[in-house]
Amino acid sequence: MSFERDLVSADADAEGDERLVEAALRPKRLEEFIGQARVREQLSLVLQSALRRNRPPDHVLMSGGPGLGKTTLALIIATELSAPIRITSGPALERAGDLAAILSTLSEGEVLFIDEIHRMARPAEEMLYLAMEDFRVDIVVGKGPGATAIPLEVAPFTLVGATTRAGLLPAPLRDRFGFVAHMDFYDAGELERVLHRSAALLGLELPGDAAREIAGRSRGTPRIANRLLRRVRDFAEVRSDGVVTRDVAAAALNLYEVDAEGLDRLDRAVLSALLGKFGGGPVGLSTLAVAIGEEPETVEVVAEPFLVRQGLLARTPRGRVATAAAWVHLGLTPPPDAFGAQAPVDLGDDSGPA
Ligand SMILES: Nc1ncnc2c1ncn2[C@@H]1O[C@H](COP(=O)(O)OP(=O)(O)OP(=O)(O)O)[C@@H](O)[C@H]1O
Ligand SMILES: [Mg+2]
Repeated sequence: MSFERDLVSADADAEGDERLVEAALRPKRLEEFIGQARVREQLSLVLQSALRRNRPPDHVLMSGGPGLGKTTLALIIATELSAPIRITSGPALERAGDLAAILSTLSEGEVLFIDEIHRMARPAEEMLYLAMEDFRVDIVVGKGPGATAIPLEVAPFTLVGATTRAGLLPAPLRDRFGFVAHMDFYDAGELERVLHRSAALLGLELPGDAAREIAGRSRGTPRIANRLLRRVRDFAEVRSDGVVTRDVAAAALNLYEVDAEGLDRLDRAVLSALLGKFGGGPVGLSTLAVAIGEEPETVEVVAEPFLVRQGLLARTPRGRVATAAAWVHLGLTPPPDAFGAQAPVDLGDDSGPA
């Protein structure tokens, strides 16, 4: 019995450690935030003009996949404004009262960060509309015909919402944000800069070609880049006296089953099921998820955006479809009617103008 508990707590410790390291690696100022040039410039304008007017800035919504820097940016917003920040999340706001308790105790100019804002319960959401627009909430007292609404003032605050699924936000909520930041995947050069910055903070020497190797397998995501860097560091400590080279990085990541294109176990499970069990598709998301024992949400939010971006999977009205490239990636021959197989190919020297 205690063995299992030990395992569980060891796991929790490891996760706690990872979270501590993650917090330590977070950029603290907008200036240190790497990549997302457009978002950074837009946000910087919003913040500067608010500071100049000495008013809280418009509400900010950040949308983008996991690990792209939404929480980091929310914390940066508060730091740049020298404002306190209150942190909560959509699932924690089950009843309107949960939100009212927070809103009624905000101080002027405070930043309220609601993570996973698309998962808020309906009544809390409706209360939030009013608070965002008029800095006021109606507290309903009593039940039935005798119920009365008591208006309550809320100090002017800035809401920062984060979501991995902007499409699930009701339009009235989305429309009340003055600024929407779309966080995109990072390119290889940006990820290399993230890696060099993190390596310096970890006191680790990281040659350029090793950084490139890790960046190429990081799925366009800083959190993954940092995580892979730590795995490479562990591997180097045990197998090569702590010295990181490109070969050491590649060997470490192969050991952790992160392939050269950055696909991990989950990605390969999705593709293998799609090819092996459903002949390449089309197949519905939930069927695909059940086939690999995952939640549809995990497949849709964690694996698919990257697979789609790599041109390995397509979302069609009839379901998920593997592209010809997916067959090739798994070392198989694509069937002649594979999705994307008829796409125009570069014919080489003699096809273009001289
Ligand atoms: N632009 C960046 N520059 C440097 N490091 C970054 C950047 N963006 C993210 N990171 C690093 O990646 C890690 C994950 O970022 P963060 O927690 O902000 O992602 P998130 O978008 O909130 O993810 P989730 O959707 O899972 O909450 C952070 O620890 C941070 O160190
Ligand atoms: Mg986050």
